[in-house]
Amino acid sequence: MSASLSLEGRKLILGVCGSIAAYKAAELTRLLKKAGAEVQVLMTAGATRFIAPLTLGTLSGRDVPIEIFPDTPAMGWTRHVELGLWADLFVVAPATADTIAKLAHGACDSMLTATALSARCPILVCPAMDHDMFLHPATTANLATLRDYGYRIMPPEHGPLASGLIGQGRLPEPEQILKRILGELQPASLPDLAGKHVLVTAGPTREAIDPVRFLSNHSTGTMGYALADAASRAGARVTLVSGPTALQPPHGVTFVGVESAAEMADAVLSRSDADLVIMAAAVADYTPAERSDTKVKKADGDLSIALRRTIDILATLGAQKRPDQILVGFALETDHGIEHAQGKLARKNLDWIVLNDMTEPGAGFGTGTNKVTLLARDGRQEALPLMPKPQVAAAILRRIA
Ligand code: CTP
Repeated sequence: MSASLSLEGRKLILGVCGSIAAYKAAELTRLLKKAGAEVQVLMTAGATRFIAPLTLGTLSGRDVPIEIFPDTPAMGWTRHVELGLWADLFVVAPATADTIAKLAHGACDSMLTATALSARCPILVCPAMDHDMFLHPATTANLATLRDYGYRIMPPEHGPLASGLIGQGRLPEPEQILKRILGELQPASLPDLAGKHVLVTAGPTREAIDPVRFLSNHSTGTMGYALADAASRAGARVTLVSGPTALQPPHGVTFVGVESAAEMADAVLSRSDADLVIMAAAVADYTPAERSDTKVKKADGDLSIALRRTIDILATLGAQKRPDQILVGFALETDHGIEHAQGKLARKNLDWIVLNDMTEPGAGFGTGTNKVTLLARDGRQEALPLMPKPQVAAAILRRIA
């Protein structure tokens, strides 16, 4: 197998459902292992009627969980979460109409569906079923829902089906699925940013009310961390200034952890010589006018907290921008997105703004995917499709560079 077909070091979950095509999962597991991948097979109970867990367990070299409930208490309850975080790609092949319906509606009645619901990696669904089941409006709608959630769908092939009918519903051959998997895991191409200093901000800020309470927002930092990682892999020297998140700083990045908007302002403005500044952080616009040194005790009646504006870091950078410096802002909007984003682009003297529409499924806080529109200073606009955040990050860097 050539180097370009290598899955060395890649972690894959193969979800197998109860379809006659389940027999192809054995060959697919073998091909994935041969390409160097670590493969964790998950089967639905229905799949075990078609192919033995022992077959797929032996080929993958791992146990094959079926039920979400562990066989023994010692096996623990959080396996679906651990697997969801572990995998680089989750492939459901064959995916039956039943499992597709469950995935589309967020059901989690098996290890397969529960892991899919907690997975942060891309999920590739390969439907296999009879022609009429595939074309039924319910299946069509469920697949459309999955697409909206960012799932990738590999359509079934046309040909003779197990029922004796001829139509669309055949699971593609394992070699074809392997090819598609290789495409999904292809690292997104990155521009050359060697010699550039890229400053990225990420995460929320916390504005202290007293020693135990703060004002903040739902930002998880994922998009900013993906940008810092992509910029670093593109060869840039990267500084990541981040508010509190649960994420590990990407490899090779200089990390500056901050809490408040004021601290973020200090950290960014003292590094404003960067060639490219990407402000992906959700910086608080207001902070308590006074921070109590002791815990505020409750009293009868309501409480008001006076807030004052924080410094607008990006607008400050915009006001002192060098001609060769590129400033990128983010705008998270719920309505009139383009209008608001254009306003911010002009007001803050930015080169680009990345518009996040919170109302789009799969976009916004706490998702592994994002759907953004890029707006440039010269009026250009480009709506990118729904993609995993690392690919969105690569696409943003390619446009900017
Ligand atoms: N930003 C900043 N400093 C702040 C607030 C925001 O640098 N004090 C940056 C953010 O990192 C982001 C962009 O400005 O890149 C967002 O613009 P902003 O007008 O602050 O948007 P919102 O905070 O969403 O405010 P609004 O209520 O006006 O929508």
